[in-house]
Amino acid sequence: MVGLGAMGSGIVEVFARAGFNVTGVEVDDAALERGRTHLERSLAKAVAKGKLSDTERQTVLDRVTLTTSRDDLADADFAIEAVPERLDVKRDVFADLDRVLPPGAILATNTSSLSVTEIAALTNRPGKVIGLHFFNPAPVMRLVEIVGTVVTEPGVLAVATEVAKRLGKTPVAVTDRAGFVANALLVPYLNDAVGLYERKLASREEIDGAITKAVGLPMGPLALIDLVGLDVCLAVMDVLWAEFRTPRYAAAPLLRRMVAAGLLGRKSGRGFYDHSRPEQHPEA
Ligand code: 3HC
Repeated sequence: MVGLGAMGSGIVEVFARAGFNVTGVEVDDAALERGRTHLERSLAKAVAKGKLSDTERQTVLDRVTLTTSRDDLADADFAIEAVPERLDVKRDVFADLDRVLPPGAILATNTSSLSVTEIAALTNRPGKVIGLHFFNPAPVMRLVEIVGTVVTEPGVLAVATEVAKRLGKTPVAVTDRAGFVANALLVPYLNDAVGLYERKLASREEIDGAITKAVGLPMGPLALIDLVGLDVCLAVMDVLWAEFRTPRYAAAPLLRRMVAAGLLGRKSGRGFYDHSRPEQHPEA
């Protein structure tokens, strides 16, 4: 697993709890420690809730090796990347994965906004590159989108689908188009909520309450944008816009300005809600 942010460390937990040995890689010791803390906290929470025994927690942790060297992936059969959503960063990661992993190994990306086909083209094994798109929080959400490209080998799709099933997830095969399926539906709705908020039609609590109370979703859209990350939502809107050029996919100006200001949601401490003061947040 390359990249141990909120998604990467959640994905490590999912694999380790399903019995896989996982090597998690980060760029430096500080990032590695953040990933370790995320994983340990999540497992401690599961123990506190009685969903995992202390022995099981230790067994899960024993399956996980954390390192700052991508060369430690030399024995891996299957790699997943969850690094920031920039093609130059992905290029660097996939060049190393291509060099280090055995020729038959599958390289997967958890990208939510970049083209899997373009990522596959960065490697010398495009037929073995797929999208494996998890949802946040990875240990909780059931769906995994399996994103095939025009050159993905059928056997690779079959392996990825089987892996997702062994994780206890529901795999859904989707085509490499902007937003795939879930984000193409979800993110424009989140963006519409920003538009309502920007036009001052209602307060953030009223907008979120309208959805949780009327439709029964667990979170309102503004709280969900804070969980997913405003930067991630903006990136998805921008690729939808770039691919389809319809007004439905124009990012709300406020979303863009908040990202420019560094208000990225929970991960930066502030988005539509202030996460440095948890009592203010309805879902905290
Ligand atoms: N890691 C592990 N487990 C977690 C977790 C985390 N980060 N956050 C919550 N959980 C678990 C809890 O332990 C609890 O488990 P239990 O029911 O077995 O005790 C369960 O999830 C419910 O959590 P809580 O009781 O603490 O809180 P809530 O009931 O408010 O649920 C939530 C929190 C699961 C986040 C829920 O609000 C939810 O489902 N929200 C919607 C999330 C969503 O829509 N995600 C998709 C976003 S789109 C995306 O990710 C794609 C990307 O490409 C943009």
